[in-house]
Amino acid sequence: MLDVEALRAEFPALAGPQIYLDGPAGTQVPNRVIRAVSEALASSMSNVGGQFGSSRRSEATVDRARAAAADFVGGEPTEVIFGPNMTSLTFAVSRALSEGWKEGDRIILSALDHDANVTPWVRAAASKGVRVDFVDFDRKTTAIDLDQLEAMIDARTRLVAVTACSNAFGTLVDVPRLARAARSVGALTFVDAVHLAPHRRIDVQAIGCDFLVCSSYKFFGPHLGVMWMRGDLLEQLPAFKVRPAPDRGPGRWETGTGPFELLAGFTAAVDYLASLGWGADRRGALDAAFSEIGAHEMALADRFLTGLPSGVSVVGQPGLEGRVPTFALEVDSLPASEVARQLGHVGIATWSGHYYAVEPMSRLGFLDRGGLTRIGFVHVSTPGEVDAVLSALASLES
Ligand SMILES: Cc1ncc(COP(=O)(O)O)c(C=O)c1O
Repeated sequence: MLDVEALRAEFPALAGPQIYLDGPAGTQVPNRVIRAVSEALASSMSNVGGQFGSSRRSEATVDRARAAAADFVGGEPTEVIFGPNMTSLTFAVSRALSEGWKEGDRIILSALDHDANVTPWVRAAASKGVRVDFVDFDRKTTAIDLDQLEAMIDARTRLVAVTACSNAFGTLVDVPRLARAARSVGALTFVDAVHLAPHRRIDVQAIGCDFLVCSSYKFFGPHLGVMWMRGDLLEQLPAFKVRPAPDRGPGRWETGTGPFELLAGFTAAVDYLASLGWGADRRGALDAAFSEIGAHEMALADRFLTGLPSGVSVVGQPGLEGRVPTFALEVDSLPASEVARQLGHVGIATWSGHYYAVEPMSRLGFLDRGGLTRIGFVHVSTPGEVDAVLSALASLES
């Protein structure tokens, strides 16, 4: 079991008094991440490619971060690309992939997704006369309709882009099944794992996808985007790069100079997560860590669902099955922004609105009504924090 109090002591922000239930929008960081970023800056970092020590140090920092990312997603270091955030990386790949699309081709997106996995593809498709279809989700559970998806995929389908977990409702998606269906017609699968990453172990081999993106600020690291791209695609797709940038390897996708200090912080974040587990190597430790994280988080989710006061309802999957501990709440007679304001007033950080999950909020009819209030727990959340938010929800003033 996780010793959550000991772990919290590693996070300066968690000393209080604020309660952070805004993890789906970004998490706090442990001391080792802060130290790694500041030590990198203090150690005289230079640009890569120089014939001197500080340049070599930056190169080693990049290599360590690629190795950490590869362990984190289950791929190879040579298949890891870093960028400012998931959205920028997705725009870059959508532009490159669409170079090969033709009129009459088709792509399939998901109605459950964050807009960062929708608009880049819609824009790229429009520029090539490619048809865009959306796989829908169940209005009650917010589960993606995988039967519909399998029926939709055809020989003209070039891409299926889908989330592994909804940032609005916490719904998990059976991405391996979806990737199998895509592969059966030669279509590529692009997975948004931004919301999955703090909660569940990622394994690109088990998923069978071609691209997977996540953001380290959602899993206790610095503000940095991470993409895993299948090796052959990484080498062959037409990256939009300047002429002197590398023609081979991840560097062909990484525009400009890297954020070396953030890469050092990223490695520290992966090492922090691995330190929650045990095993012969970092991958094994991450496997064990995520099984501990999942058990703790779902116990919190259970406590939360059991104690929900009347007048507050969860939109989406009502139980523990098929979800992570992220809840979109509707409160009788109060708009979401007012709920978040009152919670903020008593020192509880939550979110309100659509959280960029424009497509599902619109289909559920919440977009024009101010969206929903989102509460998210992570592995450093405590039963006491669950009780505090339940009590604050029960005391909302209309
Ligand atoms: C599920 C999901 N996808 C994509 C994004 C966009 O990530 P980034 O801020 O790294 O561009 C977010 C951010 O909230 C998200 O929750």
